[in-house]
Amino acid sequence: MSNGSTSRGEWGSKLGFILAAAGSAVGLGNIWKFPYITGHHGGGLFVIIYLICIALVGLPIMIGEVIVGRATQSSPVGAFKTIPGAAPVWQLVGWMGVLTGFIILSYYSVVAGWSMHYTWLSISGAFSGASPDQIASTFGGVVSSTGINLGWHVAFMVITVGIVVGGVSKGIENAAKILMPALMVLMLILFVDALFQKGFGQAFTFLFKPSPEKLSAAGVLEALGHSFFTLSLGMGAMLTYGSYLSKNTDVVSSSALVSIMDTGVALLACLILFPIIFTFGMAPEAGPGLVFKSIPIALSQMTGGRLLATLFFVLLFFAALSSGISLLEVVAATLIDQMKVKRSTAAIAMGAVITLFGVPSALSNVPGSIFGAGWMGGLFEKNFFDSFDWLASNVLLPLGGLLVAIFVGWAMPEQVRREEFSRGSRFASQYPFWLLFVRFVAPAGIIVLFLYSAGILKMIGLV
Ligand code: TRP
Repeated sequence: MSNGSTSRGEWGSKLGFILAAAGSAVGLGNIWKFPYITGHHGGGLFVIIYLICIALVGLPIMIGEVIVGRATQSSPVGAFKTIPGAAPVWQLVGWMGVLTGFIILSYYSVVAGWSMHYTWLSISGAFSGASPDQIASTFGGVVSSTGINLGWHVAFMVITVGIVVGGVSKGIENAAKILMPALMVLMLILFVDALFQKGFGQAFTFLFKPSPEKLSAAGVLEALGHSFFTLSLGMGAMLTYGSYLSKNTDVVSSSALVSIMDTGVALLACLILFPIIFTFGMAPEAGPGLVFKSIPIALSQMTGGRLLATLFFVLLFFAALSSGISLLEVVAATLIDQMKVKRSTAAIAMGAVITLFGVPSALSNVPGSIFGAGWMGGLFEKNFFDSFDWLASNVLLPLGGLLVAIFVGWAMPEQVRREEFSRGSRFASQYPFWLLFVRFVAPAGIIVLFLYSAGILKMIGLV
């Protein structure tokens, strides 16, 4: 190991990488966002399209990102600079990734803040004995409060910065080693509870039985965008985490494992939430409040519910934290690698800027706020928060993913690509198969879904 790579930081072990990468992937996207967009798009078919996107587009691109990171031992901008044969314009892809990370973290932190506030509400017994209606209206009160939103947003950013300052192995890896197993255990407990709810059968049908009439073109793009969001792809997070890998780690099996864990948690979250939703007669389309309403409603009536609710929101916070860390890490690592800034300075400075940038998102649901629905004098239909989430997940990430796939599939020298895919891997013989996916299947899939959602395929009479 060269001194250069050690001073940048490196994972302590392959398991450390897998847990950190899974920590990045598993987050609010799985437990908060996936269930509510699944509810919004009518379940079944949306879930199937999402699973196809993960397998055919997400996984091949994840392998590509990790390979570029490991080959260059650099964060995105530097990676596209270092790799032999890459035209300088590719660095723009790196910068776009940094910008995307910046945008995502700014609003991600607001939702993470809600999870912290809900932890506090659960501990203090605010939900014990409360009626479902009271609990549902609590959410409205939380999102419309300036103080709650801003206070917890800042608190979350401070903690995230603290861990990123701690560094790769000591900060990020150690945090993930505790957070991920704890999350899994708690979710399994809640799943067993859900199995016995009377709405379980209905939830299962809703989730897995295709009902094509409910899915719109926008929903298809959302499934694609979300598969990038949930796997932390398309902006260089997996690339950056790959850059801290030692040269002999099996990239293929690690990436597959991370994708499987991520998908497992997303489906498990749905199998926990939807039985509650159907049992208590709530609407699956409840939107961003889904998890914040259904969990307290189900648990408030149960003995030991207060403890379980507290644990659940602590873990939601943990899941958010290990993802928030990876978003800040990309931005900070770019500063560290490109401008030779000290890690602590980079993390603190960028954390501060992102916190400020998140203020409009924090105020998006406050009544009368200038960042509410129709902000910028009606230019945007959604509020600031939703507009940025839409822009990042449905446009910037798929676009970033498309460019990464093109880079890995077409611009990266064959020799480096093959060598990096195969080294240390049990799946080395699958190289031609993977290449087919990064070269053709993934880019074509992204382009077709973009065109489809923009209504262009319809315009030219293709669908
Ligand atoms: N994957 C995380 C989630 O599902 C969010 C996230 C972390 C992310 N890092 C990312 C999304 C990088 C896109 C890119 O909650």
